[in-house]
Amino acid sequence: MNLQVKSFKEYQDVYDYSVIEPEKFWAEIAENFLWRKKWDRVLDWNFTEPNIKWFSGAKFNITENCLDRHLDTLGDKPAIIWESNDPEENHRILTYKQLHQKVCQFAHVLQNNGAKKGDRICIYMPMVPELAIAVLACARIGAIHSVVFGGFSAQSIADRIIDAECNVVITADGGFRGNKETPLKTVIDDALVQCRSVKKVIVLTRSRTPVSMLKGRDVWWEDEIKKVETSGQSDFPAVETDAEDMLFILYTSGSTGKPKGVVHTCGGYMVYTGYTFANVFQYQPGEVHFCTADIGWITGHSYIVYGPLSQGATALMFEGIPTWPDAGRMWDVVQKHKVNILYTAPTAIRSLMSFGDKPLEGKDLSSLTKLGSVGEPINEEAWHWFDDKIGRKKCPIADTWWQTENGGHMISPICNVTPTKPGYATLPLPGIQPVLVDENGKVIEGNGVSGNLCIKFPWPGMLRTTYGDHERCRTTYFATYENMYFTGDGCLRDEDGYYKITGRVDDVLNVSGHRIGTAEVENAINMHSDVVESAVVGYPHDIKGQGVYAYVVCPNMHNDDELTRKDITMTVSRIIGPIAKPDKIQFVSGLPKTRSGKIMRRILRKIAEGETSNLGDTSTLLDPAIVEEIKEGAL
Ligand code: WT7
Repeated sequence: MNLQVKSFKEYQDVYDYSVIEPEKFWAEIAENFLWRKKWDRVLDWNFTEPNIKWFSGAKFNITENCLDRHLDTLGDKPAIIWESNDPEENHRILTYKQLHQKVCQFAHVLQNNGAKKGDRICIYMPMVPELAIAVLACARIGAIHSVVFGGFSAQSIADRIIDAECNVVITADGGFRGNKETPLKTVIDDALVQCRSVKKVIVLTRSRTPVSMLKGRDVWWEDEIKKVETSGQSDFPAVETDAEDMLFILYTSGSTGKPKGVVHTCGGYMVYTGYTFANVFQYQPGEVHFCTADIGWITGHSYIVYGPLSQGATALMFEGIPTWPDAGRMWDVVQKHKVNILYTAPTAIRSLMSFGDKPLEGKDLSSLTKLGSVGEPINEEAWHWFDDKIGRKKCPIADTWWQTENGGHMISPICNVTPTKPGYATLPLPGIQPVLVDENGKVIEGNGVSGNLCIKFPWPGMLRTTYGDHERCRTTYFATYENMYFTGDGCLRDEDGYYKITGRVDDVLNVSGHRIGTAEVENAINMHSDVVESAVVGYPHDIKGQGVYAYVVCPNMHNDDELTRKDITMTVSRIIGPIAKPDKIQFVSGLPKTRSGKIMRRILRKIAEGETSNLGDTSTLLDPAIVEEIKEGAL
């Protein structure tokens, strides 16, 4: 079956087929990929354990699909175009041949440094092509990568390395983002004080900031490549993996304090990201695809690296941020590289929109043909601005709803096929069976309804487990509603059967498209020596979508309010990373609790949202005076 549907009628037919004959459907999709040996069974599943296996028995390597199979036809075509943070620095182009060669070389480096199939390798790097090379080299040797976003602290990295028992770390001396320089290697050194499993650290030169290099443990990327070159090691035959071997771990936050290692496996993830990339964006040969996410997040894994490369596409990778050195940078990048598909986040759109039309003046965006949005609900104002000013009303907008756990797009328009509606993720992609359920788990049928969003049938890109703790995977995703995957999102299905995701229904915030667990932030705040207790909620933020609002109990403050606020912020930065810093900190003498001691978050959310009159049912409050005090001190 062709990966791309070409009309709405065809979408409806394929969708129906995918529901009636899911195994046949996915087997036909999987035929579009390169397998050394085909699967024994398309699907084995139950959602009770859960146990999900796609294409098991199939043998292949994902990098042969992303690289080797394109060499004859696309060898001299660009696989990756890289644009530096610094507009003065030359861009780089890696053709499929060059990328293949570099991945092979680095696979040798990994092997020479003791890495082998099944090992877990932590990657903490800036957005340079070597990050993609490192990811692909891990996959080529059958090692499991765990990429940690550059905005996480040493403590967060250490937690992730310890959880996955990584033996190798790949990093760089430092990285650039906007006007900031992050000392990546120093952060790794701080993290590794706690990590006994790590035997080797491979350090790429990027910022040339001084770093400490420990004999026996730390090696330079460039030196190791030279050794490979002089020893004549060149091609690296890809290690054979089973479809259900682990490909990577990616940590994400939930409603508990500890991030979970979401596990994706080789076969299903490849098929799902390749399929959704080709279909949703209707990718045509030669088009330049620009996904603005960082590879440290699932969007970068799926739609900078694996999805585009398995389809022989050209992926643009940008090291910088859309607003530096000025608010026209993103448009400069689009113009310079004649970008055709621009896939970005509502928070970036709102931020650029806030600068008005001036930064767009004189920018040639005529290469754009398709737009995409991901990460959070897109408000109608931002949708229309994106449509008018960037797409000039000629580009479809794919508002793609999905999650780290899903691997790829789940509910989304297919460009030029699905009629769009501002603020709506529209319809499920073929193979995806969404259901809305009420609090009691009863399925809500019909249109013009809302409820909690679940998926009732497996799809190839879904998570298989949470690393080292399968029970946690079960309780988080498969225990709330029987026989269904629970997304944690609230959702509306309108009169046309179109889906609109309304946001999380659990204690998870979405700040600038990044998922942040309130419990995690509370734990970090509570580590400050003056803090007795805290409660964190989200509030509407013009640019970030949601901001972090912290109510903090600090009865015996060592410093004044302002200094303590800064110290608390610094503590959160240290424990989690700058991305989780609270936007507002309100000191309170106590938190509103029920008689049984449960914090009444609903009230705190209302106050953070600026609502003071209609706080709902407060009859179970232990001490109503606290609420009055909090209302008065609201920021
Ligand atoms: C959560 C997943 C995988 C994409 C990057 C974020 C929210 C994501 C949309 C959208 C409304 C969206 C949901 C989801 N979300 N895309 N198009 N419309 N909400 O991945 O960190 O795993 O977060 O992001 O709340 O559950 P993530």
